[in-house]
Amino acid sequence: MSNSVRKAVIPAAGFGTRFLPFSKSVPKEMLPIVDTPVIQFIVAEAVAAGMTDILIITSRHKKVMEDHFDRFGELEAALVDKGKQAEFDQIVDLTKMADIHFVRQGEAKGLGHAIGMASAHVGNEPFAVLLGDDIMHERAGVLKGMVDAFETHGSAVVALMEVDPSEIGSYGCASTEDFAADRLVKVTGMVEKPSPEVAPSNLAVMGRYIFTPSIFGEIEQTTPGVGGEIQITDAMVALLAKEQLLGYTFSDGRFDTGKKIDYLRAVVELALERPDVGPEFGSFLAEICQREGLV
Ligand code: UTP
Repeated sequence: MSNSVRKAVIPAAGFGTRFLPFSKSVPKEMLPIVDTPVIQFIVAEAVAAGMTDILIITSRHKKVMEDHFDRFGELEAALVDKGKQAEFDQIVDLTKMADIHFVRQGEAKGLGHAIGMASAHVGNEPFAVLLGDDIMHERAGVLKGMVDAFETHGSAVVALMEVDPSEIGSYGCASTEDFAADRLVKVTGMVEKPSPEVAPSNLAVMGRYIFTPSIFGEIEQTTPGVGGEIQITDAMVALLAKEQLLGYTFSDGRFDTGKKIDYLRAVVELALERPDVGPEFGSFLAEICQREGLV
């Protein structure tokens, strides 16, 4: 098995119940950050970290994601006719970002089950998992750092961020030991959505993983856990008994866009950074903050 991570898997088949009613008919992974859907940010992050083959786990109500990364001849021709070269380049370039594949998860049986759907496509290679609704700002450099850790140490890596103790019950939680490398810790145990009183730490698992194919065997053996779902945390606990698992710690730049308040944070922060709308949007925000007495 090679040590370079060429493939990425993006689970995006969940119901998105925290974003209803929007997510009833439009996948939450298609929520716009100004003019770009969340899923495109996730694909771009994988590509920036060196991945060239992307598998998106989707479902029958989410075909629009496939259309987004596909060619659209009629629109391309219309843009050429109107002399809109920049727009033409934009929609064609995004179809060439990577070799993008799709597989359907017939039932939303949980994140572990969704990742298991990638087994045949991944084959005997290491691979990254990026949650389809979790944007990581490039300043955090999380995925790149995790790839480096995998290439150096050869073991699976999971992203960990410290959260407020009151929030740990929304995440997978890891207990850890020191590891002799910057930002890395050795994961010694994991528990899915613990209540704060019994949580072993405040370190929460955050939307990015690098696995070797051995995780698929563990997923197959995993029975439904918290919420009746096949949890990737439970599969990782089984993996831990056999293999080393490292945690890559970071502290900033993550937006869970499947959660309303984080989606709003992502839109504001990422819009402010854009040269086309940022300055005007910034003035508007300053004005509204003053008017509403927020500053
Ligand atoms: P979430 O737990 O955030 O997604 O899973 P969800 O279940 O859609 O959201 P809520 O809690 O109901 O609002 C993280 C990622 O894993 C995918 C989701 O689409 C999301 O991108 N996922 C989740 C699957 O692909 N399949 C599943 O069975 C569950």
